[in-house]
Parts: sequence; C-alpha cells; structure tokens
Amino acid sequence: MALHINGRQVDVDACQHESLAEVLRERLGLRGTKVGCDSGECGACTVMIDGAAVNSCVTLAGSAVDSKITTVEGLASGGVLHKLQQAFLDHGAFQCGYCTSGMLMSAAALLQLVNAPTDGQIRDALQGNICRCTGYVQILAAVRSAIGESS
Ligand code: FES
Ligand code: FES
Repeated sequence: MALHINGRQVDVDACQHESLAEVLRERLGLRGTKVGCDSGECGACTVMIDGAAVNSCVTLAGSAVDSKITTVEGLASGGVLHKLQQAFLDHGAFQCGYCTSGMLMSAAALLQLVNAPTDGQIRDALQGNICRCTGYVQILAAVRSAIGESS
C-alpha cells in the first residue's frame, strides 16, 4: 500500500489487518512512535492523521492510505526542532521519555487547531496520554510556553 508519511509518499508491503503503529515501527523503522498498551488507552502511539491526533495502535494502516500521516520524526523541520520539542527540552518535560512522542503529537494537533489554547483545552487534548513519570506539571508548562512562539 502507499502511505503519505511526513511529507513523503512511501510504498510499504503491509497487510490490511496491520495497525498503523506496527507498519510505522516494524515495516518503516519509524520507532519514535511508541507502543504501550496496544489497545487505545495510553496515547504512547499517537500520530497525526490529516492533522488530528490518533492512536495508531488501534488504526488500521489501510484506513490511512488517502491521508497525510505525521509522526514525531516529521515534527522537526530543516534540522530545527518544533517549538514543542524545544519546550519539552527546556522544561525537562520527560523522564523515561516513553510517553513523549505521543504527548508531542497530541499537543501539536491541538496547536494546529487552536493558536492560543486555554489550560482546559491543553488538558483535554492531553487527557488520552498517560505519563507514569513526570506528574504532568512540566509537560503542561512546556506546552503553555510553546503557545505563541513561532515554529
Ligand atoms: Fe496505542 Fe497505548 S499504545 S494507545
Ligand atoms: Fe516516562 Fe512519561 S516520561 S512515561
């Protein structure tokens, strides 16, 4: 099947029943997308499909054929980190890092929709992303600080 990922069209030898997370990680080597629960509960596998945050572990790769997929590998541009990535670094918004790419993708999807989200909107956008390490304080601070900065 042909998938449009991070601005490139890629042909991938995958079966219709494979999840997008499997295809990204195992077929294409895009291992920035993590798999935690593998059942749509933790958000570690979040990617964007046509700008919306989606749990790729419960999304069939075949269903994304006509869409634009963005993974964490596609966030930086021209060697420059996305403002959210920089803010996560600046605020120490990760420890083990397992949740980080999913958090980034959910936050990036929010910032595409809303220029200056409220705290409530940030919390809503990240409510499907579980972090077992940080207590969320630095993550929220990082997303807040990225708001309004140029990307
Ligand atoms: Fe997909 Fe947990 S691995 S939601
Ligand atoms: Fe470890 Fe979030 S930094 S799960």
